[in-house]
Amino acid sequence: MIFSQNEHAWLEDEARVILRQNDRGGYTVPNNSVYPYQWNWDSAFVAMGFALFDPARAWAELERLFEGQWPNGMVPSIVFHGHSDAYYPGPEVWQSGHMPPTTGISQPPVAASAAAFLLNTARSEADQALAGIKLKMLFPKLLASHRWWHEARDLQGSGLVAILHPWESGRDNSPDFDGPLARMEARVSIAHLRKDRTHVNAAERPTDEFYNKVMTLVEEAKALGWRDQEVFAASQFRVVDAGVQLILLKADRDLLALATHLGEHTAAAEIASWLARASAAVEKLRGADGIIRSFDARHGMAAHDITSASFLSLYAGVADANEAEMLARLYRTWKEALRFGVPSLEPSSSAWDKARYWRGPVWPVVNFMIAQGFAAYGFANIAEEIYHDTLGLIAQSGFREYFDPETGEGLGGRDFSWTAAMALVMRREISAGA
Ligand code: DGY
Repeated sequence: MIFSQNEHAWLEDEARVILRQNDRGGYTVPNNSVYPYQWNWDSAFVAMGFALFDPARAWAELERLFEGQWPNGMVPSIVFHGHSDAYYPGPEVWQSGHMPPTTGISQPPVAASAAAFLLNTARSEADQALAGIKLKMLFPKLLASHRWWHEARDLQGSGLVAILHPWESGRDNSPDFDGPLARMEARVSIAHLRKDRTHVNAAERPTDEFYNKVMTLVEEAKALGWRDQEVFAASQFRVVDAGVQLILLKADRDLLALATHLGEHTAAAEIASWLARASAAVEKLRGADGIIRSFDARHGMAAHDITSASFLSLYAGVADANEAEMLARLYRTWKEALRFGVPSLEPSSSAWDKARYWRGPVWPVVNFMIAQGFAAYGFANIAEEIYHDTLGLIAQSGFREYFDPETGEGLGGRDFSWTAAMALVMRREISAGA
């Protein structure tokens, strides 16, 4: 399938304007109303967008994110630079004891992959020199953050890392977490404190029941002083999330390439051992159908549905040729039922809700990772179609947070930073592939 290279060229100027508008001084808010602070994986993707027109600003994005890094290596899900009344739960709720204030949980570790992207897209001599300097400073912090995942979130050295809160997956209310959340008890009632629904239609956001559960997890971990091992042992929620596990695997590969580039041989050996262990361990996440799914480690139960995270085995490089073929067939089956790919959930699922956050809608950053995976396994036509669908959605409905896969309607926040970043990155991928 050949798409015209120039079809969505006009999106690039608007994408750059949105990134500039959401810049708050070296860091970018995901959007001005719903998310008025710096989010972890948003910033990593945003850095990739900035890299294509302002490399210095791209490195600043990662540097400001790592200002929030904890002494134990964790990079929090949100760094609360500045103050806003528009978001709940804010810094006063988390009480992380860190400066700048942060949450007490993490998010999918995309930063090393972003740093590799920044290094690889540096073109001029000056940009390459800048990348060399910035990478050298960032590398020990990236290494510490990956070590935190592999040690603090994999206490037995199994190769599988656990998330202790659905927000750590970045796919907050995915049906992957319905079982684990149903098996835990809500001990707070906070619906009246929510602010998200003042900015976004309630039908597009998680339910009150979800919020009561996730805020219970926050309160319980806070009561334990956010001490890693104690929270890990006590948490009512402990899940091996397919998304985080596979994104970490890819990020480990990118971190290994960075270590090799820098001549960091001891670090490279450590990263290679994580990779070997995790590549073997993900096999345990495969169902009888060969598909990787999330796993409730606290109750020993695999998730039921197939979500878009299952496609990330291609991005992580742990699929064999048969699995790649199978995922290509699955992608096509999903696409037959919908106008736009890739939905966040299999369309035939009983949990399908085409407008509600991670229970159906299309998310541009996930599309980028899925397309990268298909391209790496030789399915250039699928990768191209996914880029084209994503740019088509943005062209139709604006730089929204997520999109209805049936109608293409824009959902969630507006003028979204990572959507703008992905428009720039996908445009570049299309030109490079042509
Ligand atoms: C939210 O507030 O919806 C975020 O996804 C949490 O990180």
